[in-house]
Amino acid sequence: MTGKFQLVRAVLAAGALATASLGAVAVTASAAPAPGGPQTRIVGGELAKTADAPWAIALNNSNSPVPSGQYCGATLVAPTKIVTAAHCATEAAGTYTAVQGRDKLSDSGGQTSKITSIWADPDYGKEGGHDVAVMTLATPFEGVETLALETDTAADAEGAQSTVYGWGSTEGTGPADTFQKVLVPVLGDAFCESAYASEGFTANGEICAGYEDGGKDSCQGDSGGPLVLNGRLFGVVSWGVGCADAGNPGVYAEVATYAAQLQAQIDS
Ligand code: ARG
Repeated sequence: MTGKFQLVRAVLAAGALATASLGAVAVTASAAPAPGGPQTRIVGGELAKTADAPWAIALNNSNSPVPSGQYCGATLVAPTKIVTAAHCATEAAGTYTAVQGRDKLSDSGGQTSKITSIWADPDYGKEGGHDVAVMTLATPFEGVETLALETDTAADAEGAQSTVYGWGSTEGTGPADTFQKVLVPVLGDAFCESAYASEGFTANGEICAGYEDGGKDSCQGDSGGPLVLNGRLFGVVSWGVGCADAGNPGVYAEVATYAAQLQAQIDS
């Protein structure tokens, strides 16, 4: 277990560095696009519109190394509540800004709200899984479609067609800080139990999704953001080794496992 949490910290640190250097990398990428290459956008995804996914929230933080403030993702689940990852919720509440309806974080469209309080799963870091948190918005996002929580712990059957959204790293192959999505089928618990035997995958509390051969995945900065299945919040971007690498798929917090605790916070 200890190894896994060290890994998450290492992944985050690497992500901060990778994100900070994106500006320089992006020049090369746009000057020499790689059509047909396996890695474009979110890492293998496509440009998305927040108009089609209004519940997708960019969770910015004043301590982020990038000028846009891009830090993590989140999901609007009630007018004043967002679900994110516990590992995205370690900064002081006053340092966060939730942004709704902004496709490019360098633009000023959409609406923003400060965060007034944070609940993070108290068992995060004590045992595997539990990478979930609920934040309360200072200003309600009224009239915006919300996502309901998935409550069926059997929803993560192999082959389930889930889609992940975010503003995170494209590994230099797409525009930075721009809303993206990518389809990541559930690979099943057995795949990640074997792929992440040394890091520690928690079948009861985590979802393993992506491609055995890699190419499409979430990445650093997408953490906390939505993995959506059948119009419900199915998972929360949590961790992985690298991004879109063969044999190392994305790991997502399993919302159904924590739905009762999350819903209690959402209703409070
Ligand atoms: N921990 C990362 C973050 O904080 C998310 C990593 C997701 N990695 C992956 N290969 N799917 O943004």
